[in-house]
Amino acid sequence: RDHFLSAGDLNAATVPPLLDLADAFVDFNRQGAKALDLMRGRTVVNLFFENSTRTSASFEIAARRLGADVTALSPRTSSVAKGETLIDTAATLNAMKPDVLVVRHGASGAAALLSQKVGCAVVNAGDGRHEHPTQALLDLLSLRRAFGDVGGLTVAICGDIAHSRVARSNVALLSMMGARVRLIGPPTLVPGDADRWGCEVFHDMRKGLRGCDVVMMLRLQLERMEGALVPSTREFFRFWGLDREKLAWANPGAKVMHPGPMNRGVEIDSDVADDLSVSLIQDQVEMGVAARMAVLATLSVRREEASA
Ligand code: CP
Repeated sequence: RDHFLSAGDLNAATVPPLLDLADAFVDFNRQGAKALDLMRGRTVVNLFFENSTRTSASFEIAARRLGADVTALSPRTSSVAKGETLIDTAATLNAMKPDVLVVRHGASGAAALLSQKVGCAVVNAGDGRHEHPTQALLDLLSLRRAFGDVGGLTVAICGDIAHSRVARSNVALLSMMGARVRLIGPPTLVPGDADRWGCEVFHDMRKGLRGCDVVMMLRLQLERMEGALVPSTREFFRFWGLDREKLAWANPGAKVMHPGPMNRGVEIDSDVADDLSVSLIQDQVEMGVAARMAVLATLSVRREEASA
């Protein structure tokens, strides 16, 4: 289907060509970024009901670099602020005949719901705690460029797993591509059904990081913890925050990742985050544009083929 809603929309055969295409876009972007015309005459609408810096900006840049026209809407400046529902908003935009709707929403399943209501392609830019598939794709691209192949890597995803759509999409995609994935966090922030995700679960950073090639840190998603026991950030850093000492428990040469936004001194120490010899965090941001160009270009080609 011509949507990208979940890491499960990909498989072990479709991922490598998508990453190859993204690699080509990395080269193109590094050469000075004149627009291509792969999406000339196409319209992409960015519809973000939750805050974003990386995802919204990179989808916008990606679409423009492919030659598309882009419109961005946020709840603060759109008629959502006057009470219009998600579905009515989508139906209104659909009547303007966009080609792609990029949606971020706080409700799990929002992008999938919209995909049934509109005639254009829908890309999930993060739905509640459910999925953030383009983040997982850009993370995979960053890892493939750093290690050559993710098959056989041991990747630790650490911190607030329970509220993380990044964790869910990364577990699905990394496992699909042959990586071993561990989840490390306090029992209150690891979902009760995590043992069914096909990952090893650890509640101790020292034990969990032993033998890991990659340490992916996650932000405490305080906005999704209403009514829950919110950990003290100082205590959290002491036990779960990644600093130089904890990183030394992982394999020599281990790489550090973070989807952003980072809360320095909470889940990660600046000393580690800013050390470019270990940190892939800025690479992840760069790969975000290329990975999203690959997704938009692929959806665009598929739609053209379907309508031919
Ligand atoms: N990683 C990520 O989704 O960042 P933003 O919330 O800034 O888009």
